[in-house]
Amino acid sequence: MKWSVGFHRKEKKMNNHYKVNEWSVIEEAFHPEMQEASESIFSLGNGRMGQRANFEEAYSGASLQGSYIAGIYYPDKTRVGWWKNGYPEFFAKVLNSPNWIGICVEIDGHKLDLHTCTLHSFRRELNMKHGFLSRSFTVSCEEGKMLEVNVMRFLSIADDEIGAISYSVKPINFDAEIAFTPYIDGNVKNMDSNYDEHFWDVIDSGAKEGSAFLISKTRKSEFSASFAMKYEVSIDGEQSDWPVELIHNQGFVGNKVKGRVLKGKEVIIYKYVSVVSSMNYPEKDLLESGKKSLERAFNLKFDTLFKNHQEHWEENWSRSDIIIDGDPLAQQGIRFNIFHLNQTYSGRDERLNIGPKGFTGEKYGGSTYWDTEAYLVSFYLSTANEDVARNLLIYRHKHLQRAIENAEKLGFKDGAALYPMVTMDGQECHNEWEITFEEIHRNGAIAYAIYNYIRYTGNKDYLLDYGLDVLIAISRFWKQRVNWSDVKGKYVILGVTGPNEYENNVNNNWYTNLMAQWTLKYTMESLEYAKNNDAFRFKEILSRNNFNEKKEIDNWSDIVENMCFPHSEEKNIFLQQDGYLDKEQRFASDLDPSESPINQHWSWDRILRSCYIKQADVLQGIYFFEEDYDLETIKANYDFYEPRTLHESSLSPCVHSILANRLGYDKKAYELYLRTSRLDIDDYNHEVKEGLHITSMGGTWMSVVYGFGGFRVKDDMIHLNPHLPDQWKSLSFRIVFRKNEIRIHINGSKVVIENEKGPRLEIMLKGKNVIIEEKSSFLQNIEN
Ligand code: BGC
Repeated sequence: MKWSVGFHRKEKKMNNHYKVNEWSVIEEAFHPEMQEASESIFSLGNGRMGQRANFEEAYSGASLQGSYIAGIYYPDKTRVGWWKNGYPEFFAKVLNSPNWIGICVEIDGHKLDLHTCTLHSFRRELNMKHGFLSRSFTVSCEEGKMLEVNVMRFLSIADDEIGAISYSVKPINFDAEIAFTPYIDGNVKNMDSNYDEHFWDVIDSGAKEGSAFLISKTRKSEFSASFAMKYEVSIDGEQSDWPVELIHNQGFVGNKVKGRVLKGKEVIIYKYVSVVSSMNYPEKDLLESGKKSLERAFNLKFDTLFKNHQEHWEENWSRSDIIIDGDPLAQQGIRFNIFHLNQTYSGRDERLNIGPKGFTGEKYGGSTYWDTEAYLVSFYLSTANEDVARNLLIYRHKHLQRAIENAEKLGFKDGAALYPMVTMDGQECHNEWEITFEEIHRNGAIAYAIYNYIRYTGNKDYLLDYGLDVLIAISRFWKQRVNWSDVKGKYVILGVTGPNEYENNVNNNWYTNLMAQWTLKYTMESLEYAKNNDAFRFKEILSRNNFNEKKEIDNWSDIVENMCFPHSEEKNIFLQQDGYLDKEQRFASDLDPSESPINQHWSWDRILRSCYIKQADVLQGIYFFEEDYDLETIKANYDFYEPRTLHESSLSPCVHSILANRLGYDKKAYELYLRTSRLDIDDYNHEVKEGLHITSMGGTWMSVVYGFGGFRVKDDMIHLNPHLPDQWKSLSFRIVFRKNEIRIHINGSKVVIENEKGPRLEIMLKGKNVIIEEKSSFLQNIEN
């Protein structure tokens, strides 16, 4: 994973390109050199599909076309230098799918193209409150002929098979002949393709007056998807009767409509599109299903479709909004993160997951990483109904057999599972040995997510129905992966890569060993729970997992008790790995800023030998299990590791921010928060054009709610220990906790907890027990 770029250590200048606004991201001028970055920032999605902010009309400047359908991928043949046994045959790639947003616009025979025409004004807005993208501009494609253009589009969250666009053109100072060609284009390519192959074949297409469709099928993986469009044109509110020319070329279908528009009159084209795929319908029914969905949308019309969509966003925000008063940068940052999380994953489909770039770019293949369990589950647990996070867990349960096969490929046996580092369908996709074979800590995060879910929801049935299957298989893996060291008199785990990918093939990565030990312990406790509470289901668990409790558990406790944890007595810290202190010890502040990020400036050899840390590693473990460590231990480890951490993974600053807050390092907590929350808007790493950091957005949410909000769930209760940065006048966030919907408002001197929905609630506020009746609130004065 050497291609990830991270934070530059030194204070970065904001790019100031986007206006600071609480509910919107706004661009007030067009800069072609920023176009690809803006295409990422202004991306839209609805959980089922996503779309970069490419223009509807032609654009001949630099652009990354991106239209994605969740779960649809292409198994791109692996490219690798030295093939090692156990490598996967393919890397699943998220597909740039047929372009359904296109509307070619011609004015008096000239193509409207913002790269070649003269722009007089430009404004683009991502409205996060209502979930739409709009653009307004004045332009002339021929000297003296001014046009005003207003565009709006959304991908319906209420009906996730539908996208809708309204595109209006007004000739300001001339009578114009205007032609619109709404189209669907199946001739698309992926930028990220190992052998420059086409991933889709068009298998059917057609155009008739007022509509067109195209069905494409992926090569090898054989997904098919139908794209169907209808449109309407009206002039000053009156439906037009412009003549129609059918367009039906190779993989390109549409209608061309042309007519005269008098000076000052407005012509609007509404384009409605349905996108349905073989994920949800049999291939033979795609055309019909697509048409049916399209009719549904077309009959509702743009305004009603939008109203339904908007209501859904209202509902989303009512559960997940965070209000930060007094700090517009922080406010915009957090809403941007929440907005993208909500539009990337809706939790309706247990076959879907969340790629590091979501629907905003091709990088990372759109696949599932440990990011989901470590950084995202918490967000969905607290802001949506229980099924949403549950579906993320079920996704892994469904892939259990493949994880077992994956482990078998590496020589493990008897039902041991190693979940893939990167996957679309349960099979491993990653093909660098130091990640594929060594970054085994991902198994730990998958086990942790089960614990996190049950701790939060109190739903122990999950353990019996699904959780224990996964825990047993992962524990079997750890048992086989450790070996006894006579020299150390401990169980060791050799040859691993921890979360810090700037060290490979190390022995006893503290974090990995911790996750292994903890999983074994938790699995034993969970088995005990099942045995004592539901003998029948316990038996079922043993039988379906072919689990011989006595024989298999035999030395689990011994491993738990005698696991090796490298430690420095002198420094009173856990060591990232056995040899960490042999390295030359340097601080991030010693690094010449021109060499940052080191993964772009240093040789890999130099990186591996240096003590620099890419992302939270020991601190990740402390963050997960903070109750197990006293403040002094947390402080010692934080003080040691933070100065050596470069945060060159977007997943890192959130964890450090949470711990810094806990330790009262206010300035640091705030600085790291801003980095994580505005990473993309401010383009800290100059790479936002490749897509947004969707998975780290879950971390941003954690850094506000767990960090400044001091929110935790322990012993079936919410615990709150808020501590706000000086920059914030107040912080309010909403939480769904079991049967309750709660609003928590904190300012410097008081905390107000509103039990908006659900039964009487007991909360631990700053160590004191408080009770809040249904539909009432509780106020407590506090010292920040
Ligand atoms: C990080 C991994 C992460 C991956 C995808 C890498 O840069 O080191 O921990 O899983 O990006 O976000």
